[in-house]
Amino acid sequence: MKSPGVPQPVLEALAGLKRDTPPVWLMRQAGRYLPEYRATREKAGGFLDLCFNPQLAAEVTLQPIRRFGFDAAILFSDILVVPYALGQAVRFEAGEGPRLDPLKDRADFFRLKDEIDQSLLAPVYETVERVKEELPSGIALLGFCGAPWTVATYMVAGHGTDDQRPARLFAYREPDTFAILIDRLIASSIAYLSRQLDAGADAVQIFDTWAGMLPPAEFDRWCIDPAKRIVAGVRAKHPGARIIAFPRGAGTALKRYAEAVRADGVGLDWMIDRAFARESVSAKTAVQGNLDPIVLLAGGAALDRGVDDVLAAFAGRPFIFNLGHGILPETPINHVEQMLRRIRGG
Ligand code: CP3
Repeated sequence: MKSPGVPQPVLEALAGLKRDTPPVWLMRQAGRYLPEYRATREKAGGFLDLCFNPQLAAEVTLQPIRRFGFDAAILFSDILVVPYALGQAVRFEAGEGPRLDPLKDRADFFRLKDEIDQSLLAPVYETVERVKEELPSGIALLGFCGAPWTVATYMVAGHGTDDQRPARLFAYREPDTFAILIDRLIASSIAYLSRQLDAGADAVQIFDTWAGMLPPAEFDRWCIDPAKRIVAGVRAKHPGARIIAFPRGAGTALKRYAEAVRADGVGLDWMIDRAFARESVSAKTAVQGNLDPIVLLAGGAALDRGVDDVLAAFAGRPFIFNLGHGILPETPINHVEQMLRRIRGG
């Protein structure tokens, strides 16, 4: 399926090029809204078994490409494979989301490995290789990791929380210990993303899903500084690596984040004021986003209007169409098709 020289619109946007019709992919595009995903998931057994089965993980990575022809495939895995590779127990229980043995005190932190055990992550890199082999050459393959703050919120709490209270409390009470954890996650993320790039990922995204929960000083320390160091660290090993950073909920701190982190693309959530985002991110840097996932669920005239508003807001600059967060499992497939027709015309 390879034909060298075919342009990859997502990589072009990350290189600063604009197009009239932007490239498009969706966060969580491989997932439960697809019947073919649900069937493969059933075959795999547990969710982590699916993440660590290169053949099936490659299959679900490619499913949304075959069905919709998105401009990027995103590696099928999860951000919590990094804590797993640091020696923390991670489980996914049906209908309950992730469960980890929580890090309650200093002693728990010091039981973690100093570095990720790359042998545990070898199946993820094999997935990247397999997908790369099968992906049509105009379609970009994206790797990813969770940002240190977001990953730490799950490591400390042991599960998802509405307000990330356990991690925030820990960071206030024991900032030095928390900083050690964040430093370890920075080094782990650099090593993990570098191996994904070695295996054939064309670009990588850093997901900071819980960035929006921190006051300014903590946002700078636990979100901006780590993302900046990951971007610099990955580029030191892979000069020219294309990186997208997604600080969900950054609000007015988006400007500081974009200026400091210097990613090639900045992911926008659906809440941000689009005019503010346009002014806050340099016109040479791509923006990615930011349709409300609930508008995609709603469909109809609201969806058409929602797509048009996003397109109008980011016309004339490097832009990658996406949602403002992951696609919801209840989303009807024909709404995704409607969205694509609206973006691409026809
Ligand atoms: O298609 C893709 O985007 C690639 C795969 C991907 C998954 N998770 C698969 C997944 C990616 C990029 C992620 C990232 C991820 N994982 C994040 C950051 C982005 C975000 O959505 O906020 C976070 C916070 C996680 C942690 C996580 N994984 C949670 C909280 C949950 C449970 C919630 C849920 O949606 O069920 C997961 C499980 C998960 N990760 C599923 C998928 C497809 C659903 C599990 C299943 O199939 O049963």
